[in-house]
Amino acid sequence: MVAQLLNKAIGKKLYCIFVNTGLLRKNEEKQVVSTFKKRLRINLIYVNAEREFIKKLKNISDPEKKRKIIGNLFIKIFERYAKKIKNVKFLAQGTLYPDLIESKSVTGSETSKIKSHHNVGGLPKKMKLKLVEPLKLLFKDEVRKLGLELNLSKEIIFRHPFPGPGLAIRMPGIINKEKINILKEADHLFIQGLKDHKLYNKIWQAYAALLPVKTVGVMGDNRTYEYLCLLRAITSEDGMTADFFEFKKSFIQEISNKIVNSIRGINRVVYDITSKPPSTIELE
Ligand code: XMP
Repeated sequence: MVAQLLNKAIGKKLYCIFVNTGLLRKNEEKQVVSTFKKRLRINLIYVNAEREFIKKLKNISDPEKKRKIIGNLFIKIFERYAKKIKNVKFLAQGTLYPDLIESKSVTGSETSKIKSHHNVGGLPKKMKLKLVEPLKLLFKDEVRKLGLELNLSKEIIFRHPFPGPGLAIRMPGIINKEKINILKEADHLFIQGLKDHKLYNKIWQAYAALLPVKTVGVMGDNRTYEYLCLLRAITSEDGMTADFFEFKKSFIQEISNKIVNSIRGINRVVYDITSKPPSTIELE
């Protein structure tokens, strides 16, 4: 949204850097590159940093540590490429109002801060760039109205929110390539199912998560011992509070069967029925 807004305002003076953390949804990097380059004709510098991220995250399981590592590495890589562009004065970010609220402590104490979103306050001061955050006083529904004005495709405008740290915080425990691949497939099946059943736009945010628990199951005549997949789908106005979405039994059963039958590594599916509060939308 910010990229297209600036594209309209300054055209070829705009440079976008896309750092692929390897923690995006299935095929997402291809869609982003194609939208920016082919559809919007924006200058895009694409950086595939997947291996760097996985290496840095090795053996890390603490949620806030994951966030900090991802945020810091993201900025480091971003800086590496930003330096190559001459005479840059401004840096644009898509920070929204809820990001500011949730990342700043309401009482002023460090402990009451809920989660540290890496797009808020994480920039190195030495970059000396002026920050441009055109959406920072807007809620998501207002940003979507702007997207319609900007003629962006509905698929982009109404895409569910996705956290900066990506799949890393949908995989409690340690992160590795095998788990990322399993999770990408499960998430894709779930989201595709929502689209096929025309449920996607009734839901604020939905995703699959991979829990660091293995449970026993049976496949044919064999005993299996595989990961547990958690599905979350919520309704919300702004992401600040949320309720779980009530699926028909037939839908959730279809998705569960598809996941277990077609993805090696998962043999059980559970559905999260907690609201926010007391839970949060993400697991970490
Ligand atoms: P929670 O889990 O705090 O999520 O209820 C509220 C909304 O924020 C997203 N979220 C994040 N976004 N960096 C982000 O850019 C983060 O670290 C982060 N953590 C949560 C979450 O997906 C939901 O839409």
